[in-house]
Amino acid sequence: MIHIGISCGFHDAGLSVVSDTGEILFAGHSERYSKKKHDANLCDGIVDEAMKFVVNSDYQLHYYEKPWLKAIRQFRAGQPIGPLSIKQIIGPELYEKLGDKTVHTHVHHKTHAAAGFQTSPFNDATVVIIDAIGEMDCISIWDACYDKNGIAHYTKLWSKKYPDSIGMFYSAMTQRVGLKPMDEEYILMGMAAYGKPVHIHQLDNELFESRHKIAFKNNLHIGVGEDFLAGADDMDIASSTQYLTENLIETVMSKARELGKSRNLVYGGGVALNCLANRLLGKHFKDIWIMPNPGDAGNSLGAAALGYGRKLNWKTAFLGTDIKGGYPILETIRELKYNKMVGVASGRAEFGPRALGNRSLLADPRGPEIKDKVNEIKRRQKFRPFAPIILEEHVHEYFSMPLNWNNSRYMQVIANCRHPDLYPAIAHHDNTSRVQTVPKDGSGVRKLLEVWYKDTGCPMLLNTSLNIRGEPMVNDRSDADRFEKLYNLKVVS
Ligand SMILES: [Fe+2]
Repeated sequence: MIHIGISCGFHDAGLSVVSDTGEILFAGHSERYSKKKHDANLCDGIVDEAMKFVVNSDYQLHYYEKPWLKAIRQFRAGQPIGPLSIKQIIGPELYEKLGDKTVHTHVHHKTHAAAGFQTSPFNDATVVIIDAIGEMDCISIWDACYDKNGIAHYTKLWSKKYPDSIGMFYSAMTQRVGLKPMDEEYILMGMAAYGKPVHIHQLDNELFESRHKIAFKNNLHIGVGEDFLAGADDMDIASSTQYLTENLIETVMSKARELGKSRNLVYGGGVALNCLANRLLGKHFKDIWIMPNPGDAGNSLGAAALGYGRKLNWKTAFLGTDIKGGYPILETIRELKYNKMVGVASGRAEFGPRALGNRSLLADPRGPEIKDKVNEIKRRQKFRPFAPIILEEHVHEYFSMPLNWNNSRYMQVIANCRHPDLYPAIAHHDNTSRVQTVPKDGSGVRKLLEVWYKDTGCPMLLNTSLNIRGEPMVNDRSDADRFEKLYNLKVVS
């Protein structure tokens, strides 16, 4: 039996297909097909692509939350109640395309837990989920293990319910500095390095009933208001928000360490994308797994995983649309040598918000000029750094990794750059880098880095997502052609 997992209706819709032997046949984001960033709805393109994997096979549909549980929370909070029928949520035409079948629903935080645990290398784990909100839960801690038949079991140990939410706090502060909540939280995180946490006492007094209990005075779902911390510098607001968020996450991790049976940590939910805060996880757990798509789009895989019920055969995050042909190593090296940068659109698209080498804009990270050059193409805020992608065995020569982080294969954590003066394009204001390490996995990008290293003695490249400003990442070759034309930069396939 094949299992199709669905996440849609709120933000970042996705679809995943898991085979009857636990192979992940497909996992993708609706936005890459509809070209609407963070698209909450499924669209024809992604449904058509996913359904190719179930032709002539028996399959089940699994949805990433329980609409009636969510409706109870919406009713209690005085919010408009969303649709209860999955057919209505998906839309009747797409529902028909998906086979007009019964849809099995799963608890939101449990789907996050399954997306993490069943892709992890662990046989048991303490699972921590921190997001904005599921149906009711905003934070949860679980014991997860496989029984002797290989079936995954989850026991919820503790949870914090709406509206006490770390994710909503971060989103409210994102909105306060004029950024888009549920979208631009990563920009607030980048701003934190430029400010000082001078507002922590004021934030503490005005927003928290008890920081230790993670209890807020007000429902931050509606934001904090434009006048909150009036006159304060945005960078200081960002720094103070990040400081308090890290403090709250540490409170949860201490609790998880105390309640959980296992010393392996699986961490998920949108807050797990905060790679700056993630440097602290190693203080509490030695072995850590954050899958590359820990937010709601990743829950399509979590829903399919719950349907399958066992450990998935996790190999790679390259699970989306395929641009066929071998990885264009020689063309990429040639462009890097002559133009210093190049777009690459090759193989299967990344499942997750980060470009990991298959839909990437790559550049030579050496020297002072490259940051401005790439920024010119990306047309984004100058303060934002770019990420390095590096051969994993060289990471410690160039970066000081946080405690208990020996790799960062999906850009899950920041590290201190040892030579920021030599590589200013990939070092942030505070000399940190959101590093991606590439193991000997036989991937195209691994082979590219090996050739680049052999040619130049430099084992890393600058890596940023290949997307037209305001649009999701490039998905297929026609997107790559549009990018090439608009920015006059070669995209090789
Ligand atoms: Fe979530």
